[in-house]
Amino acid sequence: MQVLVTGSSGLVGSEAVEFFDSLGADTVGVDNNMRADFFGPKGDTSANRDRLLSVCRHFSHIDLDIRDRAEVDKLFAGNAFDIVIHTAAQPSHDLAARRPFDDFDVNAGGTLNLLEACRRHASEAVFIFVSTNKVYGDRPNTIKLKELETRWEYDDPAYAGGISEDFPVDQSLHSLFGASKLAADVMTQEYGRYFGLKTGIFRGGCLTGPNHAGVELHGFLNYLVHVALQEGPYTIYGYKGKQVRDQIHSHDVIRAFWAFAQNPKPGEVYNLGGGKTNAASLLECLEIIETRTGKRPQLTYSEQNRIGDHICYYSDLAKLKRDFPDWDLEYDLDRIIDEIIQHVSAT
Ligand SMILES: NC(=O)c1ccc[n+]([C@@H]2O[C@H](COP(=O)([O-])OP(=O)(O)OC[C@H]3O[C@@H](n4cnc5c(N)ncnc54)[C@H](O)[C@@H]3O)[C@@H](O)[C@H]2O)c1
Repeated sequence: MQVLVTGSSGLVGSEAVEFFDSLGADTVGVDNNMRADFFGPKGDTSANRDRLLSVCRHFSHIDLDIRDRAEVDKLFAGNAFDIVIHTAAQPSHDLAARRPFDDFDVNAGGTLNLLEACRRHASEAVFIFVSTNKVYGDRPNTIKLKELETRWEYDDPAYAGGISEDFPVDQSLHSLFGASKLAADVMTQEYGRYFGLKTGIFRGGCLTGPNHAGVELHGFLNYLVHVALQEGPYTIYGYKGKQVRDQIHSHDVIRAFWAFAQNPKPGEVYNLGGGKTNAASLLECLEIIETRTGKRPQLTYSEQNRIGDHICYYSDLAKLKRDFPDWDLEYDLDRIIDEIIQHVSAT
């Protein structure tokens, strides 16, 4: 089995590399460390690349930019990929506004380059695209909410299980990032429906784990633990710190991709986050970290929320569990946070 992982030095990509390497698959990683260009030295993922090269036995790395259409085509022509896990991206909605061309060229253009090369040279391969809950724009903020002591919660029985895949994707505020990811999301669906490629689209909630090069603009939980342990400054943007995210460990993300790869459903879309059980507000995450470490950041509160930020979002995992009944979360929130704390303390 030969597997291509784009964004292989990032959080999700590196988890995919380790997973497929452990299965004995010939695993090719593509990453040009553009995260360092996006976020500066703290976003540098080269240490993660080097770690993979030292611990993985069947892994090779290629420093390739997915915007380079000719090189992407050459890569597919020279290999026989069975599975493509496409995670390379400009991942921040705030940054997209500052670098609109880079955002769209990487997220939408890069995805199209990969899809078309896959169609030409590896039409039997399973192609997995990591999309985002930002494709729903800020429309989840129109759901009736109730304010609890430490979090916002849906106050509409229709959303008791979270947001499902048929939630509307247009006519709301997305940020340029949400728009470029939605373009790629729909394009990947189309390569499944129109061309019959075995594409799967997974709309991520908060994907997390110790191997994230967490920065203020991306990698919320990882960054929060880093700052808390240093008792450094942290700004809460709006919603009283009660905004809710669903956290899923990258290991559980890859297990879902593997379930799909073994039983692909062309063009299908899945919401993939920690769901209701792993949903927590920022204040609640701070509390968990403090209970475990005795530390918390120096907090500043800004009334102004981030543009388009969700007040409460958690994924309805019912469709995923229905289609892949053997898949379920292995990591609950406490275990995720413990692992990140351990990792940060050891580095
Ligand atoms: N982390 C989250 O909370 C989250 C949530 C929803 C969706 N997602 C999506 O999941 C995917 C993976 O996210 P992540 O958290 O692992 O991000 P990440 O930034 O940790 O990893 C992405 C990797 O892609 C590489 N990359 C960027 N541009 C590239 C290019 N032009 N060519 C080659 N490599 C390039 C970066 O250097 C980085 O190592 C992304 O598509 C992201 O939009 C992430």
